[in-house]
Amino acid sequence: MDRFCAIAPEELENVFRLVGKDWMLITARGKNENGDDVINTMTASWGGMGVLWSKPVAFCFIRPQRYTHTLTEQSERFSLSFFSEEYRGALRLCGTKSGREIDKFAATGLTPATVEGTPYVKEARLVLICRKLYADTLKAASFLDHTLLENYKDGDFHTVYVAEIEKALLLSTSAD
Ligand SMILES: Cc1cc2nc3c(=O)[nH]c(=O)nc-3n(C[C@H](O)[C@H](O)[C@H](O)COP(=O)(O)O)c2cc1C
Repeated sequence: MDRFCAIAPEELENVFRLVGKDWMLITARGKNENGDDVINTMTASWGGMGVLWSKPVAFCFIRPQRYTHTLTEQSERFSLSFFSEEYRGALRLCGTKSGREIDKFAATGLTPATVEGTPYVKEARLVLICRKLYADTLKAASFLDHTLLENYKDGDFHTVYVAEIEKALLLSTSAD
């Protein structure tokens, strides 16, 4: 973690690019079905950042069938990690395979690490450590634009997590 320096959330880059174009890895830890401590990560490109309840927050949307959902539900914190273009292939894999089936860290060469117990991905160029504040499941009846229900043909409505950005950690260029 000494390769990173803390920045203020206000210094973050364009969020539309970070989340929507670069994509992010949501990383969480919890127990597997054998009771072992595990860390898993998944790619996400829906979400955002802003201000809520006078706090800097990130929000992300995780479908209930994701292994990451199981782990995020168990933890008070998770992280969002952002990468340079060279990791696009790794992010594709983390967005198409489940941690229930494979060890994504072994498969991609990415390295799990923790800061004060919260897991993140060491190769990231930007890491947000997030503390869950609010979680809820999207509801069909709450959609005002019904065409969006196309996204939920299997009824797998996302859980929305709103989380306080406790730390924003940028890879320090002088560390290379
Ligand atoms: C570019 C991209 C963006 C994605 N965004 C999301 C997202 O925002 N929310 C979500 O639930 N799944 C999203 N996914 C799908 C998950 O990453 C994918 O289902 C993954 O295999 C889940 O892994 P897990 O079961 O190990 O958690 C995305 C996949 C890709 C490739």
